[in-house]
Amino acid sequence: MPPGAALRSVHRPPPSPSRSSPPRVSPHSPAAGPRGRRRRRAPRAARRQHNMAPPASPRPDPLRPPPPPRRTRGRPAPHWPRPPTPSRAPALRRRRRCGGAAAAMLRPLRRRLPVTHPPPGSRSSASGPGRRRLLLSTPIFYANGPPHLGHLYSALLADALHRHRGLRGAGPGRLSTGTDEHGLKIQQAAAAAGTSPPELCAHISALFRQALTQAAVSFTDFIRTSEPRHQRAVCHFWGALQEHGALYKGSYEGWYCTPDECFLPESQLTERTDTQGRTYKVSLETGHEVHWTKEENYMFRLSTFRDPLQKWLRDNPRAVSPEPFYQRVLHWLGDDLPDLSVSRERSRLQWGIPVPGDSTQTIYVWVDALVNYLSVVGYPETHGEWWPAAHHIVGKDILKFHAVYWPALLMAAGLPPPEQILVHSHWTVRGQKMSKSLGNVIDPFACIGQYTVDGFRYFLLRQGVPERDCDYYDDKVVKVLNSELADALGGLLNRSTALSINPSNTYPYFSESCFPKILDYRETKALGRASAEDYEFVVSVASLPLQVASYFEDFQIYKALECIALCVRQTNGFFQRHKPWKLNRNHPAEKLWLDTIIHVTLECLRVFGTLLQPVIPCTADKLLSRLAVEPEERGLSNLTFLPRYNGKPCPFEGRQLGPDTGVLFHRLKKSSQHQIENKRL
Ligand code: MSP
Repeated sequence: MPPGAALRSVHRPPPSPSRSSPPRVSPHSPAAGPRGRRRRRAPRAARRQHNMAPPASPRPDPLRPPPPPRRTRGRPAPHWPRPPTPSRAPALRRRRRCGGAAAAMLRPLRRRLPVTHPPPGSRSSASGPGRRRLLLSTPIFYANGPPHLGHLYSALLADALHRHRGLRGAGPGRLSTGTDEHGLKIQQAAAAAGTSPPELCAHISALFRQALTQAAVSFTDFIRTSEPRHQRAVCHFWGALQEHGALYKGSYEGWYCTPDECFLPESQLTERTDTQGRTYKVSLETGHEVHWTKEENYMFRLSTFRDPLQKWLRDNPRAVSPEPFYQRVLHWLGDDLPDLSVSRERSRLQWGIPVPGDSTQTIYVWVDALVNYLSVVGYPETHGEWWPAAHHIVGKDILKFHAVYWPALLMAAGLPPPEQILVHSHWTVRGQKMSKSLGNVIDPFACIGQYTVDGFRYFLLRQGVPERDCDYYDDKVVKVLNSELADALGGLLNRSTALSINPSNTYPYFSESCFPKILDYRETKALGRASAEDYEFVVSVASLPLQVASYFEDFQIYKALECIALCVRQTNGFFQRHKPWKLNRNHPAEKLWLDTIIHVTLECLRVFGTLLQPVIPCTADKLLSRLAVEPEERGLSNLTFLPRYNGKPCPFEGRQLGPDTGVLFHRLKKSSQHQIENKRL
């Protein structure tokens, strides 16, 4: 049973007016077929960019890397209504034209990436092939307490996706965030702090803005639900619900959980006993206490949206991702879906937006909060330019609000549901849920101070797995950052740019005679100095950009980082294997090979730096600047690797390297202090 919804009905709801029964929703697209069966192809631009070879090769390609991680999901959510399927013919024709032997040699993984369609309503200036608008959003954060690690994680996931999109040149993008300021919870927190709700919210909202800015979250919009532009949007949205007959008034009673701001059915409660022997009821899921509430409320006809919601999910198998969360939502929809209380009596809740035309009621905080995704794009005037091209990043605790209530509310208001809801699990602290009462809440400000912005970003995105909860402890942060950023990546940069092996401090030249292009390193005896292992390693770095793009597309940023880390290790292996410091620069043949080793290594570093930009923007900038990669050469759409191997010019050869020879990422000392927990939070 849904949090927020379950009210025991005292009166039967009045029949819905004829125009809302069945609810007025946009027509659904035809069924997409069984989930996971659809095959995705790399977008045309990506195939061109990575010089992908024609599909049918007469001979097996020995340098072809192992098959990419299997996709279990279908292709991305079709839009609402679904646009016509583009013809595959032009793409196939183009594929046949590109490629060739050179491309086959360093053929990257042929991951199937989604074909992107322009969203409905997008203006032609924003679209064009492969370019489309997209609104990415974080949840808006409750303004009842300062930011913690969990909040930051939601925001970092969204930020990395946003930055990645920007670097791909995917089209206009926005990243919205903000604070959720209304409701009983805030009202009570303000009273407890001896302040007023507006004062509390202004203070906490500023803390969130500061934390996000400090963590380099590149938000384009910060919305506060107490802002007039949002209140206007909410009132308009309410009017649309009413106009479509989606609301009715009734007297209801049930258990209300203020910390979670939702009603809960008996089945989702359990009993606890306090130290005085008093028994009380709590939410099974969150452990928060509930109170019996009986009120006259406005109700939303959620029950009538069960079929439309099921159909929406069936037609859009990637609408909720990762897969287990999609299944969870389907499971919920298989259960009873009672109508949802969408207002509270004003006498109990003054801190909120009054119901238009009924000053005795306040709009339910979740309806108020969800509409933020529309207010940031100018609802009710200009939202059509962006909506429904929206991807919401949310924690699993608020999945039902986003994947059940929000799409239903939108349909009821005559709008399509968002394109995607990307869900992540939670961070625990030494196995325990983070909570103020346990005093184990991790303070992001302190973490950034201790591990640096990029260090902390890298750790959270590298270790956080959306499908399952992750445990936080300081020693793990130190270990990951030292081994992957300081030693492996920083060490590699340091060693390959050392003046002792590269006294001219330039991007050295590649020699085809040392690393010749061959068709099959197992059949043909290599003529140069590179070994079979070197060819294999170069293939895996060549396939990295597509692999990373695909993982980002699948909301598996941790996997993207894992395969970058693996390639960094392989590059270190390559460098170590050939011991360039032992080669004699004064000997012409040795010099060619020495320069080639450094060239290949810097090429790898350039790819890593470019791919790491969405996650560690500062460190990546430092790395790319040291390699003399100009800002306009840092995009993902024109990222080529080792063009000289394919007989193409390399613009970097002979370039003077950047002047900053400082350490890329400083090693961290093992924390002698106790865990960074903020008992004040
Ligand atoms: N205000 C609502 C969201 C409204 S969106 C229309 C809310 N706010 S929150 O401040 O409680 O949570 C914001 C985000 O932080 C959610 O995505 C939530 O899942 C995330 N996290 C809160 N604690 C968390 C962890 N311990 N770990 C990871 N993320 C968690 O819910």
